[in-house]
Amino acid sequence: MAYGLLKGKKGIISGALDENSIAWKVALKAKEEGAIFTLTNAPIAMRMGEINKLAEACEAEIIPADATSVEDIENLYAKSMDILGGKVDFVLHSIGMSPNVRKGRAYGDLNYDFYKQSVDISAMSFHKFLQTAEKMNAINEWGSVVALTYMAAQRTFSFYSDMADAKAMLESIARSYGYRYGKLKNVRVNTVSQSPTKTRAGGGIAGFDSFYEFAEKMSPLGNASADACADYVLTLFSDLTKMVTMQNLFHDGGYSMTGVSAELLEMIKPAE
Ligand code: NAI
Repeated sequence: MAYGLLKGKKGIISGALDENSIAWKVALKAKEEGAIFTLTNAPIAMRMGEINKLAEACEAEIIPADATSVEDIENLYAKSMDILGGKVDFVLHSIGMSPNVRKGRAYGDLNYDFYKQSVDISAMSFHKFLQTAEKMNAINEWGSVVALTYMAAQRTFSFYSDMADAKAMLESIARSYGYRYGKLKNVRVNTVSQSPTKTRAGGGIAGFDSFYEFAEKMSPLGNASADACADYVLTLFSDLTKMVTMQNLFHDGGYSMTGVSAELLEMIKPAE
């Protein structure tokens, strides 16, 4: 059911790769809620062609942009403002990639060129999105910027490798830029810390399936789906959350506040 939460709002949605992507669900729901927006992804991701289906369903234009390139991001904002007829009200950063994780490199055996890429793509790109928006005055007063993150920023998950460091930086940027953009233009900046979700990025992590099941058993509400995540993100784009900024908001079925669940204790009960 749609509530018209984003009626009259304009936005930019990054990171929709295929129908499992969190950003894909955000786009479909943002359309349902009355928003108009542009879609963006890395030029290399466009070659898969899947995003064209989403663009058609959302009546949205696609603007390729490598999130590590300031020039591409400038073009993204300029074209978006042109297409949408003015500044935007919301921006979704749903971008992450670690070559070290992809190649299964342990945390004690990182390739430092890969490490730089992980940080550039998954964290510094968020600063680039924000700084470029500020310089171009591309976001309306009381606009909302959201990035997706994972709890490995606060607690160690051995399989998350250098992505944990990138996510910690991403969340710090949300605080630092949230302060700055709040003072300047009342623009709010938050991160949503999502449950493990079966997507391309999630599936690239070794041992993901076992961990997915573990988190499912640990969380009183179970793992939060990509659809539910999209619903939450829409509330942050809406006017109902105007005073929420600089926050890292857990959207994880209660996982982050659970010490241990009864199901997991039962599973490891020693034989009597
Ligand atoms: P996904 O693989 O569908 O999305 C990741 C996106 O990042 C892809 O669309 C990819 O093309 C894009 N990307 C990679 N390099 C890029 C670049 N240089 N420039 C522009 N775009 C680039 O996977 P998912 O899960 O939807 O990921 C979205 C966000 O959610 C990521 O930040 C991820 O870390 C985060 N997240 C995912 C979780 C999961 O378990 N899947 C859990 C918590 C957070």
